[in-house]
Amino acid sequence: MGLHVAIIMDGNGRWATARRMPRIAGHRAGAATVRRVIEEAPAMGIGTLTLYAFSSDNWKRPVEEVTGLFMLLGEFLERETRALVEKGVRFSAIGRRDRLDARLVRMIEETEAATVGCGTLHLRVAIDYSSRDALLAAARDGASTREEVSALLGGAPDVDVLIRTGGEKRLSDFLLWESAYAELFFTATAWPDFSNGELGRILEEFRSRDRRFGAAPAVAAFALR
Ligand code: IPE
Ligand code: IPE
Ligand code: MG
Repeated sequence: MGLHVAIIMDGNGRWATARRMPRIAGHRAGAATVRRVIEEAPAMGIGTLTLYAFSSDNWKRPVEEVTGLFMLLGEFLERETRALVEKGVRFSAIGRRDRLDARLVRMIEETEAATVGCGTLHLRVAIDYSSRDALLAAARDGASTREEVSALLGGAPDVDVLIRTGGEKRLSDFLLWESAYAELFFTATAWPDFSNGELGRILEEFRSRDRRFGAAPAVAAFALR
């Protein structure tokens, strides 16, 4: 079925500022990283890839930056839908849609519909997303078991690997329920500079970690010391 890898794509703005470029140039460079990662993800054993593109708290940013980010998202959907279908990538958006531009919502729905039968990779992009709000919505919709909550949060498997680029070590309201036993990776690399090589090294370390889910460690792990 493949791993569920979730990425907080952070550091675009600082990447651009360090190069004396406007922050939106960092977001544009970040979009190129998204394309590269999607390209390689299936070969790396990733079955589900959830990317944090716009948090519900990102509305606090200057309107030009917000507009620019949504323009880039629209561009991505418009330009990539055909390639996604060809690669067998199923696209879903998670997050609120009622505050998004109607045109962007239509593009999201069209890409979702065009790729609904694809099975090589499930690409989930979090837009106007807040994990706490998603949990509240699930509760409001009557979820009362773990299975029901998971289903109302989109039905994806639990997160195996959670990566945050850009140097900060926090979750910023991303996939709080789904990451209960995720392995966490924080890298100082800004998202525009994040490479598939680094992703590969993270997955290699992930595979060497002992995921116990609360159980006692295997006896062999002690015997080796
Ligand atoms: C991540 O990069 C992209 C979004 C949050 C939309 P930032 O824009 O947060 O970049 P920094 O953290 O300011 O460098
Ligand atoms: C988290 O990054 C949201 C996204 C990457 C889309 P932020 O840059 O918004 O997070 P904080 O403000 O540093 O916690
Ligand atoms: Mg940031």
